[in-house]
Amino acid sequence: MKIAFVGKGGSGKTTLSSLFIRHLVAAGAPVVGIDADINQHLGPALGLGDEEAAALPAMGEQLTSIKDYLRGSNPRIASAETMIKTTPPGEGSRLVRVREPNRIYDACARPVELDGGAVRLMVTGPFTDADLGVACYHSKTGAVELYLNHLVDGPDEYVVVDMTAGSDSFASGMFTRFDMTFLVAEPTRKGVSVYRQYKDYARDFGVALKVVGNKIQEPDDIDFLREEVGDDLLVTVGRSDWVRAMEKGRPPRFDELEEANARALGTLRATADATYEQRDWERYTRQMVHFHLKNAESWGNERTGVDLAAQVDPHFVLGESLATPV
Ligand SMILES: Nc1ncnc2c1ncn2[C@@H]1O[C@H](COP(=O)(O)OP(=O)(O)OP(=O)(O)O)[C@@H](O)[C@H]1O
Ligand SMILES: [Mg+2]
Repeated sequence: MKIAFVGKGGSGKTTLSSLFIRHLVAAGAPVVGIDADINQHLGPALGLGDEEAAALPAMGEQLTSIKDYLRGSNPRIASAETMIKTTPPGEGSRLVRVREPNRIYDACARPVELDGGAVRLMVTGPFTDADLGVACYHSKTGAVELYLNHLVDGPDEYVVVDMTAGSDSFASGMFTRFDMTFLVAEPTRKGVSVYRQYKDYARDFGVALKVVGNKIQEPDDIDFLREEVGDDLLVTVGRSDWVRAMEKGRPPRFDELEEANARALGTLRATADATYEQRDWERYTRQMVHFHLKNAESWGNERTGVDLAAQVDPHFVLGESLATPV
């Protein structure tokens, strides 16, 4: 199952992604964590030192080899150069799983030890000004999107993405790739305005979106969020001393996290688990194709010099039966 954390800058996306990852790992679940945020902080939030975090391989730098791996022997995709970030899988493509060993994990993932196990961490790599425009051919998140579009994930395994809610993810359809999107919001007007924007995009695509109130200090904070987002408010998280200690480089044991915050993480998991049960692989594949055709028309065909619509395999539906069992 795939879960994204989005929200305004500084709202707590990275903090909550990292706590959720710790929660899953402590429960023994297999987890891939992906840092696709502009500010690359997921590694440190999972306890890596600055040097270790800086030494993580960047997915963005492996884009060509990721493309070559994923296109496999798909006859509709002639080369990595003609494969754009929205190119969907088809017959002959290589699909990936959460748990298997594969060339993408070899090149891009590193295990990070946490209480109870390890997460496989992948990072896009630092963003530059050139990455932050509209649908961009060289976009860092392209590697993540390709990974997600070729992923066959089951119910008891998790991919958690710390993500920017920017125009890039709306243009490419990345925001539709998740079983559950948690929008982290502080109880402020700005925090809520990001929710509204996201909701507008999400509505047309059946994106499951829930708000996680963060840095809650008093009952009025919760009332404010409830008034602004209604039933979309799922849980709230208070200011955490555990997080503060972790930020000082002295992470307590994870089972010492405040009980209310631990319970909130449990709710996040249960909510995500419930949405996975409604996974519709056909719709999922259809949306992938929809965004690919849109991107092909708006910039991809011109950029690559080929008709990218021809990459769509009309009979292909991504699904569990296609992937090699683990
Ligand atoms: N519940 C919390 N309790 C205590 N501190 C918190 C909490 N949530 C977030 N913080 C602190 O607030 C700051 C911003 O959080 P974080 O980096 O997770 O936000 P972000 O949305 O990922 O920001 P950015 O947009 O920069 O990536 C951090 O210093 C973090 O430790
Ligand atoms: Mg962050």
